[in-house]
Amino acid sequence: MTNGTLQANELVMNILLKAGDHVVTITPGYQQFSDYPRWLGCTVSELPLIEDGWTLDWMALEEEFQKGTRLMVFASPNNPTGTWLNREEVLRLRDLARKYDVWILCDEVYRQYDADECAMSDVYEKGVSTASLSKLFGLAGVRLGWVKACPELIAQINVFRDYTLICAGPLSEKAAWAGLHHRQEILERSKRKSPRTRKFWRSGWKNLRGFPASCRARERFPF
Ligand SMILES: Cc1ncc(COP(=O)(O)O)c(C=O)c1O
Repeated sequence: MTNGTLQANELVMNILLKAGDHVVTITPGYQQFSDYPRWLGCTVSELPLIEDGWTLDWMALEEEFQKGTRLMVFASPNNPTGTWLNREEVLRLRDLARKYDVWILCDEVYRQYDADECAMSDVYEKGVSTASLSKLFGLAGVRLGWVKACPELIAQINVFRDYTLICAGPLSEKAAWAGLHHRQEILERSKRKSPRTRKFWRSGWKNLRGFPASCRARERFPF
């Protein structure tokens, strides 16, 4: 357990990366995924998403992997586009990453646990999933996140964690426990609210000139 997804991502990148490594992320994407590896001294390729639908450019991604990529890091659902990889696409990415021996860190903090979703760490031995109680559970202040990965990586993270956070904090853990105890009600509430919020934003965007907004059915967010 970690202090939020942010620290989960940081721990994973700290363990997996060293200066000079090549990292691929997507753009538009979450800033931590390009800035943090750069700060570690890595070379970062920001792969532009295809604007019509904000989808992955698979050919360009394979070209990047041919550069000897150590890690691909991105969020699914993505912030800020709201687009996400379904099970078939996660498996396609897994196969490509396996071919070039690339680790995949998938920030799944916006995951809704629907049947058509699939965690990167469930299908790939070098797949890492991070998330927290911040979004779907609405408990951002509790700062309770986690990393799910193969036992070898978790063991390395646990050693590193001993020197950085020791534990997420007993008060946070208690609050998280209370939240998880009411998991079903909280998740149902979030899922009920999310289509209403999306509808509200979609209608609002139409009135904002100069902001190209794409609001497709498969997006979890309206941007
Ligand atoms: C993609 C992504 N990852 C992580 C975070 C931060 O999450 P947490 O509160 O779990 O640290 C955010 C917050 O906006 C986010 O958009």
